[in-house]
Amino acid sequence: MDTVDTRATLGDPSKCGHVTLIDHATGKQYDLPVLQGSEGPKVIDVQRLYRDTGYFTYDPGYTSTGSCDSQITFLDGEKGILRHRGYAIEDLAEHSDYLEVCHLLLYGELPNAGQKAEFEHDITYHTMLHEQLQYFYRGFRRDAHPMAVMVGVVGALSAFYPDSTDFHDVQKRRLATHQLIAKMPTIAAMAYKYSVGQPFVYPRNDLSYAGNFLHMTFSVPSEDYKISPALVRAMDRIFILHADHEQNASTSTVRMASSSGANPFACIAAGIASLWGPAHGGANQAVLTMLQEIGTKDHIPEFIKRAKDKNDPFRLMGFGHRVYKNYDPRATILRTSTHEVLEEVGIKDEPLLDLAMELEKIALEDEYFVERKLFPNVDFYSGITLKAFGFPTSMFTPIFALGRTAGWVSQWKEMIKDPQQKIDRPRQLYTGHQARPYVHLDQRL
Ligand code: SDX
Repeated sequence: MDTVDTRATLGDPSKCGHVTLIDHATGKQYDLPVLQGSEGPKVIDVQRLYRDTGYFTYDPGYTSTGSCDSQITFLDGEKGILRHRGYAIEDLAEHSDYLEVCHLLLYGELPNAGQKAEFEHDITYHTMLHEQLQYFYRGFRRDAHPMAVMVGVVGALSAFYPDSTDFHDVQKRRLATHQLIAKMPTIAAMAYKYSVGQPFVYPRNDLSYAGNFLHMTFSVPSEDYKISPALVRAMDRIFILHADHEQNASTSTVRMASSSGANPFACIAAGIASLWGPAHGGANQAVLTMLQEIGTKDHIPEFIKRAKDKNDPFRLMGFGHRVYKNYDPRATILRTSTHEVLEEVGIKDEPLLDLAMELEKIALEDEYFVERKLFPNVDFYSGITLKAFGFPTSMFTPIFALGRTAGWVSQWKEMIKDPQQKIDRPRQLYTGHQARPYVHLDQRL
C-alpha cells in the first residue's frame, strides 16, 4: 500500500500550443496556453488572465470551467463513459467490490491479494464509533432527517479523533481516510436505527463491508439476521456505482473546504451537506416522491407537461445531468440490478418500477427531452432498488453519501498532496451599487 504519498507523474498536464485573445477595445492580443490531459477536452490556462489583462472569466455554475487536474475519475458525457483510474464502471460493478474500488480510488491501483487483505482488515477494524458519539444522536428529534444527523455526526468526528486531523502527516492522513470509509456505514445505520427507535447495532468483524451495513441497519437483538449473498452483492454494487464522479457539486465542496486547511472530517461533512440537495444526491429520494405523486401511468403526460413548462418549478427528478448528454452508465447498471433485487426479495410486481420504465420510455420519445439530451441518471433507479431492500426514502441519500465517501476522501487526499494547491477564492461580476455617501437615520425616507 502506498504509505508514502507520491503524486503520480502520469497524466501531468502538458502544454500544447496556445489560443490568442484579442481585446477589440484596445487592440491588444494575449496568448493563453492550452493544456492537454491524458484524455478529454483540452483546457485554456487562464491562471494569469487577470494579472495580464485585468479581466476575470465568468462562468456561473462552472459549465465550462476545470477547477483542478485530477487522475482519479474520467467522464465522457457524450459517450456515457465513466472510468476510475482507467477502469470502466461496468467492469468494476461486474467484477470488483466496493473496498477494492476504495483502494483503487485512494491509491491508484486495484489491490493485489496481500494489499486487499491488509486494506480490508484496516477498514474492518475502524468500523466502530467512539461510544460517546451515540449521545450525539440522542440530541436529535427522532424524526430528524438522517442527512441532518450525518452532517452533524461526521462534523463532530474531529472532536473524537483529533489525531486524524493532522493531515500533513502521511500516516495520520491515511488513518483519516480509512476511518471515514470504515465509519460511514456505522454512522448511517445508527441514524436509521435512531429514527425508528430501535437499539443501535454494533458492527461485526466477520461480515463484509456491505453485509455489515445491512446487518447494522436491519438486524434486531431479539433474533438472528440472515441476508442473502445476492442482496449483499447488490448493496455492494450500489456503493461502487456511487463511489466517485469527477468534480460534482459535493466533491467540489469537499475540495473547496479542504483548500482552507480544514480538517478532513469537516470537509466530508461539508460534502454531505452539499449532496443533500435535490438537484444532486437528494434526487434519489425526490424520484420516489415524484413517482408516488404521479401514481399511475395515465398521469404521466400531465407530469411530462409540467416538467417542460418553464413557469412550473417541477422537474423530472432522476433525469438530466450536467455532464452526461447520453445514458448515465450507472443508471443502466442500476436498472438491471433493480430487477435482480426485486426478484431476490420476492417482489413480482413493483408498480413504481413499471411506472418508472413507462415514464422513461415516454420521456425519451419526447422532443423536449431528446433535444436537450436529458436521460435517466444514477438517481432514477437507485431509489426503487433501495426501497426493495426495505430502506425508507429518507435513507436513500445517506446511502449515496456512504458510497461517495471513497471518492470524497480520495479527491481530498489528491488535493492536499498537490504542491500547486492554494485556497480556492473565486471572484465575481459585481452588479451592485457604486460608491455612495452614507445616509444618516434622520435623513432616510
Ligand atoms: C447527481 O455532477 C454529478 O456528477 C452529479 C452526480 C454524481 O454522481 O455526483 O451524477 C449525481 O447529482 C445526478 C443528478 C441528480 N439530479 C436530478 O435528477 C434532478 C433533476 N435534474 C435537473 O435538476 C438537472 O438536470 C441537473 C441539475 C441534474 C443538471 O442541471 P444543468 O446541467 O444545470 O442543466 P440545465 O438546468 O441547464 O438544463 C438544461 C435544460 C434546461 O432547459 P432550457 O433552459 O434549455 O429550456 O434542460 C432542462 C432545463 O430546464 N432540464 C430539465 C431537467 N433537467 C434539465 N427539464 C425537466 N426536467 C429535468 N430533470
